[in-house]
Amino acid sequence: MRKPIIGGNWKMNKTSMEAENLVRKLILELNSYEDVETVVFPPFPYLQKVKTLLQGTGIAVGAQNMFWEEKGAYTGEVSPLMLVDVGCRYVILGHSERREYFGETDEKVNRKIKAALKFGLRPLVCIGEKLEERKKGLAEKVVESQLRGSLSGLNPSQISQIVIAYEPVWAIGTGETATPQQAQKMHKFIREILERICGEKIAQSVRIQYGGSVRPDNIRELMDQPDIDGALVGGASLDAISFVKIVKYGGK
Ligand code: PGA
Repeated sequence: MRKPIIGGNWKMNKTSMEAENLVRKLILELNSYEDVETVVFPPFPYLQKVKTLLQGTGIAVGAQNMFWEEKGAYTGEVSPLMLVDVGCRYVILGHSERREYFGETDEKVNRKIKAALKFGLRPLVCIGEKLEERKKGLAEKVVESQLRGSLSGLNPSQISQIVIAYEPVWAIGTGETATPQQAQKMHKFIREILERICGEKIAQSVRIQYGGSVRPDNIRELMDQPDIDGALVGGASLDAISFVKIVKYGGK
């Protein structure tokens, strides 16, 4: 049984006070809701504060990115050790916005995954095709190559620690969601590749989230698909009411 996991990726949003208000509302509504593993991904400056607020609740905290080195002269970077130190359990790696604007490649994602695992952080690895790629019939090829590149050199027990997020780039922040059937088809394909990489048992245990314009009104249909194990939510996670609805509808 794969426990559903729903993440709120706040991206570069919220002031410190707004972050606190949002988290307080989430605690009231979700503290004793255990059907879904819930994780919030605030910007770096608020991680510690959010973690303190969430201490003792069932809601976990993760970061939106990190560097692969433990420490050193890397101005502006944040290390896995620091994320663990402030209480993060997860880290998003390879988000399409990082790939698009900050030169993140599969090779870099791969180094980051290895570093995260070394420090006991669970990587949430994002993959997904762009619109042109889908139009050209290359969606599966792109997704397979991102998946294989990101997971290169990892053993099955390492892969079992990872969460995959399938996020078609054309669906992120656009209001255009993949249909549940389109998403299920790709999730099944991802699980088949995982099976070839690390065997059936691990492939069946890895959770694969869908991301891209997930809202309270489309989460149920997505979660009804057999290979969709959760969601990574951007815009709709910034509002407590809509994120709580998504998490509560996300139980299988
Ligand atoms: P969105 O973002 O829900 O705003 O489309 C999803 C994501 O980028 O993780």
